[in-house]
Amino acid sequence: MTAMSEQSTGLDVRPLTGAMGADVFGVDLTKLDGQTLVSIKRTFHEYGAIVIRNQSLTPAALLEFAKKMGAIEVHPIVKGLDEHPEIIKIHKATGDVATFGVGWHSDNSFTPQPSLGSIVYAEKVPPVGGDTLFANQYLAWEQLSGGMQRMLEGLRAVHSAKYAYTAPTAKDKYEGKTTIAYTHSDVVHAEVVHPVVRTHPETGRKAIYVNPMFTVRFEDMTEDESRPLLDFLFRHCVREDFQCRVRWQEGAVTLWDNRCVQHTALNDCQGFERILYRVTVRGNAPA
Ligand code: SIN
Repeated sequence: MTAMSEQSTGLDVRPLTGAMGADVFGVDLTKLDGQTLVSIKRTFHEYGAIVIRNQSLTPAALLEFAKKMGAIEVHPIVKGLDEHPEIIKIHKATGDVATFGVGWHSDNSFTPQPSLGSIVYAEKVPPVGGDTLFANQYLAWEQLSGGMQRMLEGLRAVHSAKYAYTAPTAKDKYEGKTTIAYTHSDVVHAEVVHPVVRTHPETGRKAIYVNPMFTVRFEDMTEDESRPLLDFLFRHCVREDFQCRVRWQEGAVTLWDNRCVQHTALNDCQGFERILYRVTVRGNAPA
C-alpha cells in the first residue's frame, strides 16, 4: 500500500493521497464478474481503503457483495438490523450529538479473530462534515527506527472493549445521544492478546497493530507502565502523512483492511443526518 500502483487492474482507480486510499469508478457491485472481483481485491490490498462510488444497494445486495469478500460476522456488542443482524446501521440522527466510531481504531480488535475488513455503504450523507479518516499502519511500522522496531517485535498487547463500550465511556458518548443500539454482553469485559506487529497474510508486509480505542496495555505490564509507549504509538500511528480522508457521497461503498489500517469517524456534522450500513468480514488471529 504505497499510493501509486503500477499494476493494471482494469478498474478506474484514483489515489486519495500519497499514503493510502483510492476512489474506484466504473464498477457495478450488483453485476460483478470474477475478473472484476479479483481486481477489487487486488486494489483493496494495494490501497488499504477503497471507495467504490455510485452504487445503489439494498441491505441484501450489500450482504451479497460482502460475502464475496469473505465470511461475514455478527458484531458481538452493537445490535444489527432485525432482518439482517450482520448489518450495523450507523445512524446519526439530526438531533444526535455523538457519532459512532469516533476515535482511532481497528474494527473488533478486542476479539480473538478481529475483522479482516469492513464494508460500508452510504445511504444518507450530510451536506458538510461526516468524513472518515484512515491511517496506513504499514507506513507507521516502516517509519520507526530499527531500535524501536526490534523492541516492538518482542511485544504483545492486550485489547479489550471495556473502555470503549462500558460506562462511563460509552454511556457518556452514546446513550441518548445516538440511535445506535447495544446488546451488552460479556465480550465487553473480555481481554485478548495480539502481537504489536503483525504480518499481513496477503501482502507479507508488517504493520503495527495497536489502537487507542481498544488496546489497553502490553502483556505482563500494568496500564500505567504501558502508557508512555502506547501513547507514543497511538500518536505516531496516525501521523498526517500516513492518512487519507474519505468524503462520503450517497451510494459510496468503502472497504477498508483492518489488518493494516486504522480509521476514525469525524463528529462534525451536527444538525444533519448521516446513515451508513456496515458489514464486517471475519479475519484470522493476527500473526
Ligand atoms: C466505524 O465503522 O468505525 C465508523 C465508520 C464511520 O461511521 O465513518
